Amino acid sequence: MTGQPLSRRQALALLGLGTASVAAGTVGWAASAGLPTDRTRLRPESGAALRQPQVLAGRDGLLDVTLTAAAGARLAGRDTSAWGFNGTSPGPTLRVRPGDLLRVRLANRIDQPTNLHTHGLHVSPAGNGDNPFVTVDPGGSFDYAIAIPADHPAGTFWYHPHHHGTVADQIFAGLAGALLVDGGPDVDLPVTDDLVLLVTDTTLDGTGRVVPPVPMTRMMGREGELLLVNGQHQPVITSAQGAVQRWRVINGCTSRVLALRLVGHRLTQIALDGAYLPAPVDRDRVLLAPGNRTDLLVRPAGRGSYPLRAEPYDRGGQSMMGGMMGGGPASTGPATLATLAASGPSAPPAALPPTPPAPRPPPDPVVAGHRQITFAMGMDGMRGGGMGPGAMALTINGRTFDPDRDDQTVQLGTVEDWTVVNTSPMDHPFHLHAWPFYVLTGAGAARSGARQDVVLVPARGSVRLRIPFTDYAGRSVYHCHILDHEDLGMMATVNVRG
Ligand code: C2O
Ligand code: CU
Ligand code: CU
Repeated sequence: MTGQPLSRRQALALLGLGTASVAAGTVGWAASAGLPTDRTRLRPESGAALRQPQVLAGRDGLLDVTLTAAAGARLAGRDTSAWGFNGTSPGPTLRVRPGDLLRVRLANRIDQPTNLHTHGLHVSPAGNGDNPFVTVDPGGSFDYAIAIPADHPAGTFWYHPHHHGTVADQIFAGLAGALLVDGGPDVDLPVTDDLVLLVTDTTLDGTGRVVPPVPMTRMMGREGELLLVNGQHQPVITSAQGAVQRWRVINGCTSRVLALRLVGHRLTQIALDGAYLPAPVDRDRVLLAPGNRTDLLVRPAGRGSYPLRAEPYDRGGQSMMGGMMGGGPASTGPATLATLAASGPSAPPAALPPTPPAPRPPPDPVVAGHRQITFAMGMDGMRGGGMGPGAMALTINGRTFDPDRDDQTVQLGTVEDWTVVNTSPMDHPFHLHAWPFYVLTGAGAARSGARQDVVLVPARGSVRLRIPFTDYAGRSVYHCHILDHEDLGMMATVNVRG
């Protein structure tokens, strides 16, 4: 039944859920999962001025920081038991320059293993570099050393845990931060304000505890009830007429696709995934899959308050098993993320600053290899997946993740074209560590023309990618950036051999 949507009954059977527990609804699942059943919800504080996370910036070629993961971060203006880095969620914004050494001592003070990933950086995945196979046990620490190459693009990246099996849980609980590469022409981009907007979602009960998802929700990819920007609920971004702000929007949600719209404005998009576009593009709506970042230039259209909205986006869950749990992921939204408050005497809109040139794709490379990567959900994935009967499988090329298996072996220094095929009725965002790629076909507005590291592969669709495997030998991973899917096994390894 390759690619066929599951019937409601099949899906329930695969999840080991009887119809009775589903009929019981929310209460039923919480109780059957043995969870605390505080069904009240945290009352968020809204409308405060947008804050920026603390900035830790490199000096003289080095940024040396300790990031301590621990419980007790404030979210939505309240004390919670959510997790943060160095006491806050998001953690501090790390700012480095091309050629810098980024040293991070990751100290684990949560009650489960974790680690750290520098999402989007073109850096070595080996040893104590951006190595997703590292495990840092509770109470322990690990010293990462990430050498940023001198020709690294300047842009917006982020960091988050990557311990397989708990990535979604740990980000949902608050562990994420912005990572900016400055330098080159970038420092001269004359904007009035340069703002990080790290968007996350979570669900917090009335006592400030993170509410874990149920098995069904994991399979769909959980979406939190609370949307946060820099850990704040619906903050206000103040600007003056005639000003130009740079918004670095990071989709740090575990599963939610952000369809961004700023009421009364078109959004001027200058970068995607840390790379400048060939030219700025004005859009009514900017779509960010989980893991994607975009840099926007925002000029107030006039005095007033303009909501920044996340509009409903159907990831395909409804067609798969709509109605089972009171609607699929598309039942969320529209939601207000933040509000732009523009004040001051009316002024003509400021001129847009010229943006730096986009990094150019390799001109007519010799394509050394073509591969097909197939994302699938359902019974068909159980062949060779080792899941056994009764389990739901989320697979890549028919298999679930095994950190000890090399799924793709690539020759260092070659360029390959990968076709990523999605046979399932849900969208899956494809992400590859360490080696960003160019999207050749198939992704519509998600095709930026510049190199990127997350691309949404539509339900029953495909995308073609060109991947320069340059500079770094080593093993790393590619996966679905719906992080519940990644944790359930929709991840695979690539070994680049020098
Ligand atoms: Cu942002 Cu492998 O992930
Ligand atoms: Cu990544
Ligand atoms: Cu997925």
